[in-house]
Amino acid sequence: MINDPRTTQTVLVVDDELDIRDMVADYLERQSYRCLKAANGEEALLVLRENEDCHIVLTDLSMPVMDGLEMIEKVRDEQARELQFIVMTGNGDKDKAVRALRLGVAEFLDKPVSWRSILEALKRAGANVDRSLSQSESLRQTSDLRDRLNAAEQQLFHSHRLAARQLANIARYKDAETLEHCERVGRYVRAMADLVGYSSRDAADIELAAILHDIGKVGIPDVLLMKLGPLSMDEFEVMTRHTLLGAEILKEQRDNPVFEIAYDIALYHHECWDGSGYPYGIAGEDIPVAARICAIADVYDALRSERRYKSAVDHDEALRIMTRGDGRTAPDHFDPNMLTIFLNNNERFARIFDALPDNSITATGVLESA
Ligand SMILES: [Fe+2]
Ligand SMILES: [Fe+2]
Repeated sequence: MINDPRTTQTVLVVDDELDIRDMVADYLERQSYRCLKAANGEEALLVLRENEDCHIVLTDLSMPVMDGLEMIEKVRDEQARELQFIVMTGNGDKDKAVRALRLGVAEFLDKPVSWRSILEALKRAGANVDRSLSQSESLRQTSDLRDRLNAAEQQLFHSHRLAARQLANIARYKDAETLEHCERVGRYVRAMADLVGYSSRDAADIELAAILHDIGKVGIPDVLLMKLGPLSMDEFEVMTRHTLLGAEILKEQRDNPVFEIAYDIALYHHECWDGSGYPYGIAGEDIPVAARICAIADVYDALRSERRYKSAVDHDEALRIMTRGDGRTAPDHFDPNMLTIFLNNNERFARIFDALPDNSITATGVLESA
């Protein structure tokens, strides 16, 4: 006799012959299996529905009411749980055995069946059940962990967004730039990021970062921000420091992806492709790509907007200035590839401008949309 140490496996014994059914069940119980019994396929289905912990079925094939194969087919259809079938076949059942194979039956015992062969088959089936259940459990744990990580990531992303929006709101109290300008620049940059092929998460991050491009203006004296006429050389020099101040404000949070991009944008959004910008006069691809994109968005929106010291131009005139220059803005200021993308999709940017005119949103509204 084979001594199997298992104590908790539940086996459903299905046979229409009462003597065989009872004899097999009694024997298996003496071997420490828990046994359930059914006289045909239909009864077996009912027993399985009521016993979720049963994962092994030892069944005859030829039975009245519902035979073994039909039962296995029905169980496979309705039960998602792990089930191992051990089929006891007589001489005339070989063709049925082929069907059973197709239904995933792994064990066949030829009648007359020996106790030894039953115990060996049960042992293999039990090992398969254990393996399968532990795989499902580790898959479930992995999927739970993934869900929890996704939720934490979402939460972090939303708190980054909120922090960035609140910071952008501070600028409002200085009247350094209009909220709408900052929001529109964010939206142009988002549209550019989509066109360039950024993932939607990265595009959302860069949009938020771009809203903060002029955050450094909170550190510029009001007298310069409010000045009606053009700035003197010295005043302009002071104004250029908003890039360095912005970077100073954002640098402590650079371990957060939104603020890392925001730092690059705040510091470099006035750098020019031809090296004629500020604060460092760096050129070309030395300028981070997010800042190159933001520079195009910022200049377009500034041209379209009325400021204390200048009037607005329409969309076509803004494009003309960006492509031909006006003595202040020049096409060489912009990354040529990014400028081409901007020009090829220019109507999209006009729509963004038209959708969010100055004085159209409140501080509360901005926070709500975060
Ligand atoms: Fe700026
Ligand atoms: Fe700006």
